Amino acid sequence: MHRNSSNLPDEVIDKIKEIELDYIEENLSKLLGRMRGGANRISKIVKSLQVFSSLDTAKVISVDIHVIMDSILLIIQPRLQNPLFQIQVIQDYGELPLVNCFPNALKQAIMNIINHAIHALEIKFYQNKYGVEQPTISIRTEKLENDWLGIYISDNGLGITEENCSKIFDPFFTTKPVSQGKGLGLSISYQIIVEQHEGRIKCISSPEKGAEFVIEIPI
Ligand SMILES: Nc1ncnc2c1ncn2[C@@H]1O[C@H](COP(=O)(O)OP(=O)(O)OP(=O)(O)O)[C@@H](O)[C@H]1O
Ligand SMILES: [Mg+2]
Repeated sequence: MHRNSSNLPDEVIDKIKEIELDYIEENLSKLLGRMRGGANRISKIVKSLQVFSSLDTAKVISVDIHVIMDSILLIIQPRLQNPLFQIQVIQDYGELPLVNCFPNALKQAIMNIINHAIHALEIKFYQNKYGVEQPTISIRTEKLENDWLGIYISDNGLGITEENCSKIFDPFFTTKPVSQGKGLGLSISYQIIVEQHEGRIKCISSPEKGAEFVIEIPI
């Protein structure tokens, strides 16, 4: 068997190169840390999915809105940690009673809004329009008078023009290219919040500064 200067057979050397052993040796503890982090995240997502999938979608259930929020944030976590730019999430949760709602539907409605906030931050970032400002999503909750609660989701992304603000809840309204958007997401959120939960939803925005979505639902 032919041996080289390291005194190992060539076949072994080739195998070491093939599996990138040097890289693995150097980065093993980092890789294990990442694997542990990933496994923890998967386990939390599975637990959260188990909780939500066990809920009867056709029934009104008393839930903690913050559990819904945390389950959404868990799912979108990787999008917040884009290696090119990090999105900061500010959570300002008020003292809320349990809310009678369709939790899975509400989760979908809020998830839509948070996904759009991320998209608006990404577009502004790729247009190079962040100076020292940090891409941020703020989520605030508050108990309102007369047994209502407010959920406020804002971003400092690319914003919406006043004209578009009045159209975004219309079915098929989109500013995305045809292949990317159907214009249905916010009309579904509107239907869930206004028709299914007898709540209110509106958008406040100024172009370049960002957008805020105000959701109010009766407890
Ligand atoms: N946070 C936001 N910042 C800027 N624009 C937003 C934001 N949220 C929504 N929009 C605008 O609202 C429009 C309508 O949203 P909607 O979810 O109804 O459709 P879509 O996202 O374009 O397509 P689809 O959800 O069907 O894939 C979007 O095209 C986008 O222009
Ligand atoms: Mg959408």
